[in-house]
Order: sequence, then C-alpha cells, then structure tokens
Amino acid sequence: MKVDIVTLFPEMLSGPLDESILKRAREKGLVEIRLHGLRDFTRDKHKMVDDRPFGGGPGMVIKPEPVFEAVETLRENDSRVLMMTPSGKSFTQGEARKLSFVSHLIVLCGNYEGFDERIRSTLVDEVYSIGDYVLTNGALAAMVVVDCVSRLIPGVLGDEESATDESFSNGLLEYPHYTRPADFRGMEVPEVLMSGHHAEIAKWRHEQSIERTRAHRPDLMARWNEKQPDFKQNRNQGV
Ligand code: ADE
Repeated sequence: MKVDIVTLFPEMLSGPLDESILKRAREKGLVEIRLHGLRDFTRDKHKMVDDRPFGGGPGMVIKPEPVFEAVETLRENDSRVLMMTPSGKSFTQGEARKLSFVSHLIVLCGNYEGFDERIRSTLVDEVYSIGDYVLTNGALAAMVVVDCVSRLIPGVLGDEESATDESFSNGLLEYPHYTRPADFRGMEVPEVLMSGHHAEIAKWRHEQSIERTRAHRPDLMARWNEKQPDFKQNRNQGV
C-alpha cells in the first residue's frame, strides 16, 4: 500500500512513522508512506494556504487551490482521498478493514476552522473523524488512521501480534489478560486461566468480554445483541 499524507505539519508525523511496527513495515516495503507539506502546493509568493471565512466568524479556512493542486499531483488511477476533520463520520475498525484493501491513500489533514467545502464535495471519497473531540489539527488523526490500517496489511504484524482476537474484531471489547507472576502483591490470576482447560478458558474470556462491553460501551453491546441469531426470537418471547 502507498500512502500520501498532506498536512501543514509533516514533521509532527516523522517520529511516529519511524518507530516500532510501522518502521519495520516501511523497511520491508509493505507500506510506503510519504509526508507532504501543504505549503509546497501553493503557487503564490506568500505560500498562503488559508483565508477568512465568507460570511464572517472566527478562524481561517483552508483554501481550495493548494489542496486541489496536491490531490491532482499525487492522484493515481486507484487512489482514495480521505479528509480528516471532526465533522466527518466515525473512523472505526470496520472502516480500517475496508481501507486496508486500497492500494493508494491520499490523506488530507485539516487545520483552523476546516476546509473550503468545495474540497469536500468534489475531491474527497471519505471524510473521517477519529472521535468526538477536537485536536489542534488533523495530522495526529491521519496518523491514527494510517497506523490502524497499516497493521491490517498482511505481513505487517508478526504471528505474535495477530489482529484476529482483539477488541472490535468480533464487535466486543477484549477480555482481560494476565501474565507472571501468578500472585502479585496478593492479587491472584483467575484460576481458570491456569487450569489448562481450553473450553473453560474460552468461555471465561467470552463472558469477560461481554461484561466489559456492557460496562464501558453500551452502544457496542446493543449492536452486538442485535446481531445474535436468536436475539429477535428471545426478545419476542420476553427473554
Ligand atoms: N481534526 C481535529 N480534530 C479531529 C478529529 N477528532 N478527527 C479528525 N480530524 C480532526
């Protein structure tokens, strides 16, 4: 996969791209990630990327010219263009999975009050928010998306880091983990995990996943309940 990230602050991302699993993936050639400064796509002598909003109000708006120039320069036949902004749809593990099949991503990072709407309406395939909060700019949000998608590309995670049995992979939060020592300051590991009884361990983990999801993410729990094959029937019977 190839990824081009267009941002006002490319240096913010060079550190995270050069560490750990992403660093290894890039060295192996599994992902090719390039950072671009939005100002490099301006043509005026002041390298202006933003201007005041029509209609008034606070803040500045990213101008269409440099963004169109960036996308038209970087676009290939099979590119998908993503825009990062808090006013986008929620970025989820499901969206990450879909994007992991795309061969080229162009990720546009916002700043100030956001982008001129003509960028969103004509250039962009997906508009994503990484959560219901506002960051100082979209670079970190782009990094979250790129990190999340990259680890789903075959070969990026080693066997030890598998992406199959983790939070969201089955619509539930992940169960608790324990490692040695079995007794740490009087806090003991649940017996079942040391029993060697695989079916019992799987059952305990599933129950723990459900309990954790119910406690922390009632929204996920409701969706998971809806998806269970016998849910409708049970509901009709008042169970
Ligand atoms: N830019 C600022 N905040 C953001 C968010 N929550 N998601 C995506 N881009 C952003």
